[in-house]
Amino acid sequence: MDRHVEAGAGDKVAFHWVGEPGEDARDITYAQLQDEVCQAANALVELGVQTGDRVAIYLPMIPEAVVAMLACARLGAPHTVVFGGFSADALASRVEDCQAKVVITADGGYRRGAPSALKPAVDEARTKTDLIEKVLVVRRTGQDVAWDDNVDVWWDGAVGSASTEHACEFFDAEHPLYVMYTSGSTGTPKGILHTTGGYLVGAAYTHWGIFDLKPESDVYWCTADIGWVTGHSYMVYGPLANQATSVMYEGVPDSPHKGRWWEIIEKYKVSIFYTAPTAIRTFMKWGDDIPAQHDMSSLRLLGSVGEPINPEAYIWYRETIGGGRAPVVDTWWQTETGSIMISPLPGVTAAKPGSAMRAIPGIVADVVNDEGESVPDGSGGYLVIKEPWPSMLSTLWGDDQRFKDTYWSRWKGMYFAGDGAKKDIDGDVWVLGRVDDVMNVSGHRLSTTEIESALVSHPKVAEAAVVGATDEMTGQAVCAYVILREAAGDGGADIVTELRNHVAHEIGAIAKPRQIMIVPELPKTRSGKIMRRLLRDVAENREIGDVTTLTDDSVMKLIAQGAAASAED
Ligand code: WTA
Repeated sequence: MDRHVEAGAGDKVAFHWVGEPGEDARDITYAQLQDEVCQAANALVELGVQTGDRVAIYLPMIPEAVVAMLACARLGAPHTVVFGGFSADALASRVEDCQAKVVITADGGYRRGAPSALKPAVDEARTKTDLIEKVLVVRRTGQDVAWDDNVDVWWDGAVGSASTEHACEFFDAEHPLYVMYTSGSTGTPKGILHTTGGYLVGAAYTHWGIFDLKPESDVYWCTADIGWVTGHSYMVYGPLANQATSVMYEGVPDSPHKGRWWEIIEKYKVSIFYTAPTAIRTFMKWGDDIPAQHDMSSLRLLGSVGEPINPEAYIWYRETIGGGRAPVVDTWWQTETGSIMISPLPGVTAAKPGSAMRAIPGIVADVVNDEGESVPDGSGGYLVIKEPWPSMLSTLWGDDQRFKDTYWSRWKGMYFAGDGAKKDIDGDVWVLGRVDDVMNVSGHRLSTTEIESALVSHPKVAEAAVVGATDEMTGQAVCAYVILREAAGDGGADIVTELRNHVAHEIGAIAKPRQIMIVPELPKTRSGKIMRRLLRDVAENREIGDVTTLTDDSVMKLIAQGAAASAED
């Protein structure tokens, strides 16, 4: 930002921001952004934030979210952005894990045509952790909020009155930039740590190369929420490092009407558009007549991220949204990788619908078998990265051992991504999905064990098993099998709703199971491990697979009967 302003690009629009209600849309130039970031940095210093302190950011998709991140970066205070859809519990556990002392939030945001509240979740989080010293609150909706004078500070006052002068501090390339929590195969989310220099190189290089960015003429829009890594690398750090002009939109795609995104593309003449397959499939279902009402001839490049894109969705995206002109880049990467690793390059790679194609220049990826040997073309295995890359995660916050165990212990000298993949006969990569206990629901990573723990924390639940079942819209959907405690009887008429709401309260609405089946037993191997594969068969209505290692195969019959009954309901 400072670099661009100094180079004379201060008047260039950094963000065309669009609030969900629409009438408050505004453009923010690089110079304005710099002023506000300096003010926020000064305000944070006033609140006691020093280099190295952690700051949690829990905000809707408003410009202040970007400002807050950059103000932290400016002070060398690593931020941890917590998705606004996460619960108070999820926020508190992240604050505890990285020991954040300040939370930046808002009274609320606009979603589906109405204000939704955010501050109450921070107040609730404060009852679960006493680490939070100050809460900086953006006034977005004007709704009433509870107030604690010792802790709560309005953003308008503290940031608005601060000086726009702040000398940018310099840090070592390995200085921590942020911690982003993501689900792993065990109960607690992992704090992925990204540092400053390499991460920025990775974000800027890929944003420029894969999106063929021409900063002087392109209008770029990544629809990801700032609470995920895609929002970090491809809405904030990559585009701003490259002096791009971006769109940022606060709300949902169907408010006030189902053509909202296409209207925004038309209005701002968006030329590069980056979104997720689950959104594309939703638009497909809504029908071609909706995008057809808008002039989207400005689009010249489309991107996809977050989950495998099925060929039907890919072709629809290319034809109906991209008018058959705009190539699609299917980009594979992870929170851990920090930036895109495998993707076609526009104008270079002849793409295939459904394949992320090849590792980009500088990245060495491969598909290997159980022994870590490269598989021949035409076969499948595990996706690995074999050489270091600029934006690789540095560690897991506070847990070097788990970092080593999770990513580096399976095969010597290779990064294990946790995904299965195949190489086709041309050697192009098709990512198949997770091979661990991580589900991918609408492009969001959710851990089966994390949801199981949430279910088991309910007083009526004795045991729970969660699987991800294939879902036409969301890629995978959360299906839970629950054994109730004796004392709970049949749990009562509303037990399923009660448990779904409990999961939403513990983790967030995105983790709510699509289906909960109350069962008398769970299928286990002789060593006591739950056989999730069988449960997945039931959830996907398949013939139940091999049950020879089950302790008691009558369990499966009961479960299958129960599933059939609940499907009839
Ligand atoms: C999946 C999101 C297939 C994959 C950037 C990965 C994909 C996980 C693709 C990371 C893609 C992401 N094709 N699968 N193009 N992109 N994935 O950390 O399973 O939220 O491991 O990062 O999403 O999810 P994360």
